[in-house]
Amino acid sequence: MSIVITGTPGVGKHTVGKEISQKLGLEIIDINEIAKNSGLFEQNDESNDVDTEKLQEILRAKISNKSIIIGHLAPYVLDSEKIDRVIVLRRSPYDLIQVYEKRGYSDKKSKENASSEILGVITYDAINQLQDKVIQINVTSRDIQEVLERVESAISGNIDSEEVDWLELVTKNNDLKKFFAD
Ligand SMILES: Nc1ncnc2c1ncn2[C@@H]1O[C@H](COP(=O)(O)OP(=O)(O)O)[C@@H](O)[C@H]1O
Ligand SMILES: [Mg+2]
Repeated sequence: MSIVITGTPGVGKHTVGKEISQKLGLEIIDINEIAKNSGLFEQNDESNDVDTEKLQEILRAKISNKSIIIGHLAPYVLDSEKIDRVIVLRRSPYDLIQVYEKRGYSDKKSKENASSEILGVITYDAINQLQDKVIQINVTSRDIQEVLERVESAISGNIDSEEVDWLELVTKNNDLKKFFAD
């Protein structure tokens, strides 16, 4: 079994991935760590530019049938035939900007990531690449235990993908300016 945990930075991928890895005996494949160790990230640490073709090649050799693959780049670097399930974690942009503040992200980087979450970019790209294997889970207002239960159900195919619409929420609150750069 090969599982992917993806989503915008700060949604909880590593927190969830580590627990699921232990519980199901799957080896963690951390996409960012592999990209970093292979020198595939561009020098500028404000950007996330990475050589996705090379990264895809390296990952191809590492993924087994007992892998849990973690990273926001997953939709851009994975071969769909090797993957059984793709979990996209979604989290309110209001919560995400607090995570980014703690991480010391710049205003620009924080907005880039929050607006990407609002638009559902990773979900859109994951569905494009990995089709019906994709299940979306909203972690907002759920503690880690509850999230883990949902993720395990999603891996077994026992729950449907959840609807998420941050754009509607943020528009209703008149907060677009908070999350989108001028
Ligand atoms: N379900 C949750 N509820 C509240 N906080 C969470 C939850 N999951 C993760 N966190 C916290 O959110 C932050 C980001 O989680 P992390 O696993 O590092 O995200 P990612 O790997 O997606 O960037 C951490 O401080 C983590 O403790
Ligand atoms: Mg992480």
